[in-house]
Amino acid sequence: METVTLLALESSCDETACAIVRNGREILSSKVSSQIDVHRKYGGVVPEVASRIHIENISIVIREALQEAGVTMDDIDAIAVTVGPGLVGSLHVGVMAAKTLAWAYGKPLVPVHHLTGHIYANAFVEELKFPLLALVVSGGHTELVIMKEDYDFEVIGSTQDDAVGEAYDKVARVLGLSYPGGPIVDKLAKQGKPVYRLPKVHTENPLDFSFSGLKSAVMQSIKRCERLGEEVNVCDMCASFQEAALEELWSRVEIALREREVRQLILAGGVAANSRLRELTVEHMKKHPGISYIIPPLAYCTDNAAMIGASGYIAYKKGIFADLDIDADPSLEL
Ligand code: KG4
Ligand code: ZN
Repeated sequence: METVTLLALESSCDETACAIVRNGREILSSKVSSQIDVHRKYGGVVPEVASRIHIENISIVIREALQEAGVTMDDIDAIAVTVGPGLVGSLHVGVMAAKTLAWAYGKPLVPVHHLTGHIYANAFVEELKFPLLALVVSGGHTELVIMKEDYDFEVIGSTQDDAVGEAYDKVARVLGLSYPGGPIVDKLAKQGKPVYRLPKVHTENPLDFSFSGLKSAVMQSIKRCERLGEEVNVCDMCASFQEAALEELWSRVEIALREREVRQLILAGGVAANSRLRELTVEHMKKHPGISYIIPPLAYCTDNAAMIGASGYIAYKKGIFADLDIDADPSLEL
């Protein structure tokens, strides 16, 4: 088999990342420089600050990734880069760096959609089996995607308002917790019980999602406690929100598994790092013995460049290349 070594770049939000990936499966190195400590001071990602820090860090992560992989640019077959969706200024830094490397070293440029990266992070565990259903859950997206084959994406459900990761972050903020809220809510929920009653969400298309009502219900519940002079039990509120949010996700997955004939279910995106979602997935999938499932490794759930290398490899094999005049596309569709 021909060996294909990609240098992959990711800078769509607040992580500056570079990875060297061989044949889409073997991670020779994966460097992620996180800006979380900076954005935490502001309670969320500040786009202008994010792009400035990407500029400072991109050359560093590229150098470190090459060094750790023990390769030089001569060993690289192509440059894969996230071209969208994401924050335009942040994406721009990665795309410019990728174009510069492609031009300077005469390498092909492979454009990658960020969500396909999250999806192909599963290929680090085992080969994908088609047709499959992907539950894509991140800070910017909540989608159900059917794939009949490599690089064939049919979105069958998506959020009508907030993404589930965004809801985690907003709920954490109203509870006075730090940013990003997802991992903290996940941790505190383990010490609480889902005793607060929160409404079930209905959407016109039963495969769509909606999280803004749930977030508002949490806020109303907190206000009610304040009116009654009761202290909010933060752990119980985290558990209540989390159970309601994950029940919403899984109710849609169950419908999709019933309606569509798939051989595999995969989780994708930052919220796939959630310990309760991972647990629920194992539990629910016991009811579907004929369908296999993959839960991506924790380190490759949140933004990283290795996943861009995994998706970029498939694009490379399919001959999907970009010219040097390609631009970042903040609202790129799947
Ligand atoms: O995929 P990702 O790194 O960036 C985007 O593409 O958006 O996802 C980030 C999101 C954030 O909203 C973060 O709070 C959430 O993933 N997240 C989690 C957990 N870890 C990260 N949400 C729930 N539980 C977690 N353990
Ligand atoms: Zn992401």
